[in-house]
Amino acid sequence: TPRLFSGMQPSADSLHVGNYIGALMQWREMQQNYDAVFCVVDMHAITVPQEPELLRAQTRRTAAQYIAGGIDPENSVLFVQSQVSAHAELAWVLNTITGFGEASRMTQYKDKSAKQGSDTTSVGLFTYPVLMAADILLYDTTIVPVGEDQRQHIELTRDLAARFNSRFGDTFVIPEPQIQKATAKIYDLQNPESKMSKSATTDAGVLWLLDEPSKTAKKIKSAVTDADREIRFDRGAKPGVSNLLTLHSTFSGTSIADLEAQFEGKGYGDLKKDVADVVTAEFTPVRERTLELLDDPAELDRMLSKNAERANEMAQKTLDRVYDRIGFLPRV
Ligand code: TYM
Repeated sequence: TPRLFSGMQPSADSLHVGNYIGALMQWREMQQNYDAVFCVVDMHAITVPQEPELLRAQTRRTAAQYIAGGIDPENSVLFVQSQVSAHAELAWVLNTITGFGEASRMTQYKDKSAKQGSDTTSVGLFTYPVLMAADILLYDTTIVPVGEDQRQHIELTRDLAARFNSRFGDTFVIPEPQIQKATAKIYDLQNPESKMSKSATTDAGVLWLLDEPSKTAKKIKSAVTDADREIRFDRGAKPGVSNLLTLHSTFSGTSIADLEAQFEGKGYGDLKKDVADVVTAEFTPVRERTLELLDDPAELDRMLSKNAERANEMAQKTLDRVYDRIGFLPRV
């Protein structure tokens, strides 16, 4: 069976609806048909400053949300990146075949470093995409389900794999991204021209999976729309309404065209009420299951350690192959 790999950063207390739709929903669907590996990428999270106790808590919370959201840690592999040392080791090797200019062109790095200024931007943030390439390539991954914002990083991964293969002989599988078009990007409710993000300036535009349902409903009811009355999907002219339609369609399973027909002649208030209903219906059981899992952190830690062993076995094989190809001595 073909291999799937994906991951999320434990950089907030909760996933947001963009992570949920752009990643987790695809993951749980695809794990049926792929040999799936899911990672909580704590080593990526520390490319910007993190509070140690908070990072530990957020790592557990992220893993718990994967499981509550439908990832099965018995069949799929669900582990924490820092517990499999091959990630750091392969990243080092890949750093040596990545061009400085090539890494400088990564738009996510440019955006993040522009916000931080060069004195506070770490070298780790710069090589972040190279660590991500290591994550993917270690598992002979064929497919990587992600949101639109990760497309460029997957392109780099493919370039590095092909470069290594041509220099050192066939070693890596070249992975493909899987990005669902309609839902590739969820936008901020208060600022529907920019993507929903964990680091948004105001919390009001972000729908957190672990928020109280009443809070979620309130945020949806105060979502920014536009001055006319028509409920119609038009990303350019009506970004707020279009984003609400996407959310509705994703969770209700009704097509955008059917929703437009259904809401004809109705007001934005009606749309928002229905969106709040479908979103909270989706989130509530996942939220409750997450909180249950977090009641027993020792059990969660055991599950993660066990899964890290499985991941380690897979990753070490690839790393051994790489070390051999580049001319490192064998361990005897
Ligand atoms: P991260 O933690 O920022 O986001 C996790 C996943 O959520 C998707 N996503 C969105 N999708 C739709 N709309 C949005 N507004 C939105 N915001 C985030 C992201 O595309 C991602 O799929 N670099 C990765 C983590 C990573 C990784 C990997 C992913 C590390 N190594 C290897 C795949 C394979 C990241 O920062 O995701």
